[in-house]
Amino acid sequence: MFRWRGGFCMEVMPLPVRLVVFGANGDLAQRKLFPALYQLHRRGLLHERSRIIACARTAKDLTGLYPPDFLTRIDTISGDSFDPSVRTALKNHLDALKQACPLPSENVFYFSMPSDIYMDLLDVLNSDGIITETTRVVLEKPFGSDLASASAFDNRLHRILREEQIFRIDHYLGKETVQNLFFFRFANRIFEPLWNREHIESIRITVSETLGVENRAKYFDRTGIVRDMFQNHMLELMSLVAMEKPAAFTADALHDEKVKLIRAIRPLKKEGICFGQYAGYREEPGVDPASGTETFFAARLAVENERWRGVPFDLSCGKKLAEKRTEIEVRFRRQDESIFPGIPAEALVQNRLVFSIQPQEGLSLTIQAKHPGPKLCMGALDMIFNYDSLSGENMPDAYERLLLDTMLNDRMLFIRSDSIRAAWELLDPVQKMKGTPIIYEAGSTGPVVPFFR
Ligand code: BG6
Repeated sequence: MFRWRGGFCMEVMPLPVRLVVFGANGDLAQRKLFPALYQLHRRGLLHERSRIIACARTAKDLTGLYPPDFLTRIDTISGDSFDPSVRTALKNHLDALKQACPLPSENVFYFSMPSDIYMDLLDVLNSDGIITETTRVVLEKPFGSDLASASAFDNRLHRILREEQIFRIDHYLGKETVQNLFFFRFANRIFEPLWNREHIESIRITVSETLGVENRAKYFDRTGIVRDMFQNHMLELMSLVAMEKPAAFTADALHDEKVKLIRAIRPLKKEGICFGQYAGYREEPGVDPASGTETFFAARLAVENERWRGVPFDLSCGKKLAEKRTEIEVRFRRQDESIFPGIPAEALVQNRLVFSIQPQEGLSLTIQAKHPGPKLCMGALDMIFNYDSLSGENMPDAYERLLLDTMLNDRMLFIRSDSIRAAWELLDPVQKMKGTPIIYEAGSTGPVVPFFR
């Protein structure tokens, strides 16, 4: 049993914003953004002066999906945002709202659409003077497909916006357990002293999905899982687990350490990477029948610094696997010797700390313990903590946290440009090492990864 004994809470003071959602009819907006905004509204975290402006070609009627008190906070602008008259309507609307708001308030633009479209849209919004010095923009990945395209993309963005105005989303950073990594490591005395090669044998990060490519086959087939998940979610998780302690609890201090970590990863070698593709992938509608795109990727990474030299980081992600499971497993070194009669050191349990991110968020620690009773009976004991037990059904969705942070102008859980470049620097050579992927059965645990054995 776990008991929350209270502590310090930083008050969240919502600020008034005008949040424009471009692509408001799309899958992401309907499935994630509006439900998250509704939750923020319900929890009193959407400032009473904030407005949501839904922009879409044909705006969807949300009546019936949400209660009226939330719907009255949403304005709709229908039409193609590339049409100048639609942008004029948007500009007039934003100006009128600004006039009506007695408090300092900003425009936040959420682009819930592919990056090639929002780049063009940003250009025209900028030419129309709708983007100003204080506008914040929220962008979804992909941020390029290699170093060259990511740099070109960033250069284009930076012609319009300062880095401080850009909020690049990686929804993994909004997950509670992922945020907790930071507190776990740097707010406790008992783990950080062990967080190094002297005490940790290896770290394994697994993102296993049961879903295949679903209705995104076209996008996925030209992208592959290295670009779709490894470059962002996996490396973000790794950098939070392995980075040095930031100098302060600020966005830039955190980003500095994350980038340093990614840059300290040694170039990957062919014998340390494995590409897989699930059987039947090539028959999925929208996939090239001769596709060599990977739906599974595993790599053994090494970090060249004092803390981690010699500790393998085994990362894998895959689609159409046996289970939905995302976790970070820290395996500690075993005891060097055993003082217990008849029990060799190798038989003592290996301490493991697992941060479970999905399907349930939580933590577990495996320790050696004595079983109650007269005999000397030792065994492995799992101490398991589920976040649900603290938050009940109120566990916030990742998008809720991230949307709130855009309104609070807090970039801590977003990705800075240099860490994207560092990730592509690491992964560009990997793309060139790609051979024919190993075919694995759908619903299996994926291909056998020889270097994980
Ligand atoms: C997205 C990827 O970023 O993350 C998808 O584009 C993937 O391919 C998804 O399925 C996984 O997210 P989650 O939160 O379900 O682990």
